[in-house]
Amino acid sequence: QTGAFTYDPGFTSTASCESGLTFIDGDEGVLLHRGYPIGQLAEQSSFMEVSYLLLNGELPSQAELAKFENTITRHTMLHEQLATFYRGFRRDAHPMAVMCGVVGALSAFYHDSTDITDPQQRMIASHRLIAKMPTIAAMAYKYSVGQPFLYPKNDLSYTGNFLRMTFGVPAEEYEVNPVVEKALDRIFILHADHEQNASTSTVRLAGSSGANPFACIAAGIACLWGPAHGGANEAALNMLHEIGRPERIPEFIARAKDKNDPFRLMGFGHRVYKNYDPRATVMQKTVREVFASLNVSDPVFEVALQLEEMALKDDYFVEKKLFPNVDFYSGVILSAIGFPTTMFTALFALARTVGWVAQWNEMISDPEQKIGRPRQLYTGPTQRDYVPVSQR
Ligand code: SDX
Repeated sequence: QTGAFTYDPGFTSTASCESGLTFIDGDEGVLLHRGYPIGQLAEQSSFMEVSYLLLNGELPSQAELAKFENTITRHTMLHEQLATFYRGFRRDAHPMAVMCGVVGALSAFYHDSTDITDPQQRMIASHRLIAKMPTIAAMAYKYSVGQPFLYPKNDLSYTGNFLRMTFGVPAEEYEVNPVVEKALDRIFILHADHEQNASTSTVRLAGSSGANPFACIAAGIACLWGPAHGGANEAALNMLHEIGRPERIPEFIARAKDKNDPFRLMGFGHRVYKNYDPRATVMQKTVREVFASLNVSDPVFEVALQLEEMALKDDYFVEKKLFPNVDFYSGVILSAIGFPTTMFTALFALARTVGWVAQWNEMISDPEQKIGRPRQLYTGPTQRDYVPVSQR
């Protein structure tokens, strides 16, 4: 029993690890990062401040935050040879394929200088990864649209730098829109960490063998890409566009309930949240704020709102405790900001990198840590003798 929460002893017996970073109460729809509720962090903090909190365990002082932001800012450049690495991809390669490749390739640039037994070098590698992800993601987008790469500008914020590297062009000055910058920074906070989800567990399992952190994060990106996980934000917006108008919602709800139809409502349901995903609450509120501030609207948002309303009145979704998750509304905002759907999961990976490296650090710094080795329930044949092919 700690604080206001009690822990079901049975749960610890199935836990894959101990961690002090993020607490989720799926029945109560609670998400805490180092004890702070996600709603308060999303409303009052910044992605850089939340990154410091996840990495170091406490919210930073003004001076600590300034030093951390300065450190991150000075690691945003990529080695020039990595820029040529992009030219090996087809122009239409999915940005997640590019990010898997480029982040994995960072191993070739930093592998021999990252002694993971040294806490300081672990933190430098963590800072490098947090700092370079926006540059890598922006370059993946620029390459896909055939525009020149833009270098980071050190006088911009972490999120402002990413917006300029993504949407800026050399021919003119890029003005960061503060409304967009704040909304995207909040979206990064909402995606920063989420306990032992599939991609974080992938990073932990890869890291447990002593593999270098760049290779471990590349493994996490690969896992996140799947439509059941981080790929759901891209799939959810594509689904909303396919539905197109409120009159077609019943048809898709019927399909989602039909056991013979593999279709699922993308952005709905969660392995842990059997109540509302608190991040979806903040995300929906952010859509309203961004649309009001930019004076834009998108019929897809109306479809999403009505789909949520109709699904949450339907016995099937109520009985199975299926609610919108973090991916249901995120695409509506990202699309309004100007990102193509193929970049949505790349943005998720950008934000989740801080959670991945914080969880990796937490694991590697545990002196008792051992290589992960999941077991299985064997369902194959019992022992039998070999039969030569002449007798088969
Ligand atoms: C993320 O783990 C994390 O923390 C992940 C994440 C993070 O921050 O890292 O939160 C990010 O991955 C969010 C989830 C994004 N994925 C989607 O939105 C894809 C659509 N959702 C489903 O695929 C599903 O809900 C999962 C994968 C998210 C969760 O699946 P579970 O917990 O394994 O649930 P289940 O498959 O056991 O479903 C229980 C029942 C099943 O029906 P029955 O077999 O009991 O008859 O609910 C049904 C499912 O068929 N169901 C759905 C549904 N999700 C579950 N039916 C229709 N539409 C859906 N979306």
